Amino acid sequence: MAKINIAIDGPSGVGKSTIADIVADKLNYVHLDTGAMYRCVAYYVLKNEIDYSNEELLEKALSDLKISFQNDHVYLNGEDVTKEIRTNDISMMASKTSAVPMVRQKLVDLQKEIAKSKGYILDGRDICTVVLPDAEVKIFMNADAKARAQRRYDEYINKGIDADYETIYQDIIARDYQDSHRKISPLKKADDAIEIDTSHLTIDEVVDAVLNIINKEI
Ligand code: DC
Repeated sequence: MAKINIAIDGPSGVGKSTIADIVADKLNYVHLDTGAMYRCVAYYVLKNEIDYSNEELLEKALSDLKISFQNDHVYLNGEDVTKEIRTNDISMMASKTSAVPMVRQKLVDLQKEIAKSKGYILDGRDICTVVLPDAEVKIFMNADAKARAQRRYDEYINKGIDADYETIYQDIIARDYQDSHRKISPLKKADDAIEIDTSHLTIDEVVDAVLNIINKEI
């Protein structure tokens, strides 16, 4: 069967990456988690205390960055940062640095280059609108902020990590605002993307909904 490209956008904590991972496995496609790339930039900036408002310093930092993916792990300049990029501090910093034009330019170019051939599932905020506007399948996953906060809270508790629901909920609201109000490529549903509201759906149900949409295309 001829391969296509699949673009998935949606807000923080909606489950895009989990779904994209499962669907990619089922179809034998490659999943590119673009949020992880923005998180790598945030990690680098925080770790090296880089003033990202200084264009010269930022340009140097970006040219030093080598991001790669292998077996569900994310590497930054050879260091496995899979776990480190998932903290709350990194989430908030990624939301800030992803609003910087130079950061977006660099990562969007990289993502376009990677997805030049078919057989990719990309998830993020601007995949349907900017990175892959010609993708054969475009999906916008959504869920209300309370459902997303509850899922994140359950995930932490199940992993034995201390969590406070109200803090998580407020962080999600703050990131939604930042991601959808930035000047460049704000989070928004592409006109031709199909929306799936996952608020009351299980993971299996969302996977089925996504596969149904894809199967109509291939
Ligand atoms: O999906 P995520 O939570 O891992 O993304 C982290 C941050 O990166 C998020 O606040 C917005 C930003 N992001 C973006 O601007 N564009 C993308 N394609 C993916 C993520």
